[in-house]
Amino acid sequence: ALLVRHRMKNSGKWARALAILKEFEEKCGSPISKLKQVADAMTVEMHAGLASEGGSKLKMIISYVDNLPTGDEKGLFYALDLGGTNFRVLRVQLGGKESRVVKQEFEEVSIPPHLMTGSSDALFDYIAAALAKFVATESEGLHVSPGRQRELGFTFSFPVRQTSISSGALIKWTKGFSIDDTVGQDVVGELTKAMERVGLDMRVAALVNDTIGTLAGGRYNNPDVVAAVILGTGTNAAYVERAHAIPKWHGLLPKSGDMVINMEWGNFRSSHLPLTEYDQALDVESLNPGEQIFEKIISGMYLGEIVRRVLCKMAEEAAFFGDTVPPKLKIPFILRTPHMSAMHHDTSPDLKVVGTKLKDILEIFNTSLKMRKVIVELCDIVATRGARLSAAGIVGILKKLGRDTVKDGEKQKSVVALDGGLYEHYTKFRTCMENTLEELLGKEVSKNIVIEHSNDGSGIGAALLAASHSQYLEFEES
Ligand code: GLC
Repeated sequence: ALLVRHRMKNSGKWARALAILKEFEEKCGSPISKLKQVADAMTVEMHAGLASEGGSKLKMIISYVDNLPTGDEKGLFYALDLGGTNFRVLRVQLGGKESRVVKQEFEEVSIPPHLMTGSSDALFDYIAAALAKFVATESEGLHVSPGRQRELGFTFSFPVRQTSISSGALIKWTKGFSIDDTVGQDVVGELTKAMERVGLDMRVAALVNDTIGTLAGGRYNNPDVVAAVILGTGTNAAYVERAHAIPKWHGLLPKSGDMVINMEWGNFRSSHLPLTEYDQALDVESLNPGEQIFEKIISGMYLGEIVRRVLCKMAEEAAFFGDTVPPKLKIPFILRTPHMSAMHHDTSPDLKVVGTKLKDILEIFNTSLKMRKVIVELCDIVATRGARLSAAGIVGILKKLGRDTVKDGEKQKSVVALDGGLYEHYTKFRTCMENTLEELLGKEVSKNIVIEHSNDGSGIGAALLAASHSQYLEFEES
């Protein structure tokens, strides 16, 4: 009798756990009808953000990039890419139309977590020191000509109110960064002062967002690139707009007629977004409550954390992992998206990888196959929602560009350059995003839309933009 009661109690808990999962799944639902509403809302917000400063949650930042790389760029340039847990320094020799990228060297440096929430000087000193060290490794084969100042393309992947191609004030930090004294400051000024402090003579020729860098790098390789999307620690998009379609732009109309816009779509928000109680709680407890809502349900920094939160609820309210809640499961951000991805892609019949991850990361031992299947299902729900919403975002851009339909048999290709760890490494996410895009656009239109992986294009892109804004340019041309 005791055993029967025990079983009944357990099956009641199991049912409760499944009910929690089911409810979450329903709230995350993203049928095509809903995605179309999201895409439409994105287009509407794009218009609003272009109309006036502060007109929308979408900042639609004017990048001051009105010419994208042509292939003619020449010379030795540096790039510095800051935006996630690592930063990269890059040295490239550009050889013009014939030789293109002649040679490139790079180094990746991780940022100690305490610098992400410390002081502005400490962060920029650290970066400048690493850059100086890298510059010191210039070799015979790859060095700047004597008497010439080194020039840098600075990829700074946060929202910046640009004041020119090479200056701009930080609007706010996003992702894991939070350093109060940088907000409102010109980040090029901050970097330049730090470079002076370490005795490095270098000029920042271009300040760009990673989406802008990716767009520039993508265009260098393919003239049909019209937009760039980052799916990584954070998420964002940039695209080429017609300058006359930007009411808030009061400057001169550029010769090209174009202006690249950094959308900062991570901050997009709409009543059509499928949000759950878990997203709400994650947001409230985050470094930037109320901000970056689109980013918080799509990007790599948050997907694993959402999974953790649902598991926590299943542990607390349905004793999913036994009578006590595993202590590690209560630690925010302990379950990273790469772990989630590894579990989600587990193809072994007994879900060995899931078991190992639970053991190694959460110190949860002895899980049944049934439980592991539930966890894979949970990963699938979270990744699917993010992937489908990012596809809807891309459709929003294509709509704004009038490229979401086929005009009388036209074969004009629209290429979207994609980059970021989430896109690159999370196969199921990428596949779902691409399939949803096709589902949204239909077979005919899809033939003209190409998603192209732009492998670390943002570094090269920044160097290319530094080249086209070099102080030595006019001198060389005349
Ligand atoms: C965050 C930043 C944005 C960046 C994106 C991808 O959304 O605010 O500037 O482009 O992450 O790195």
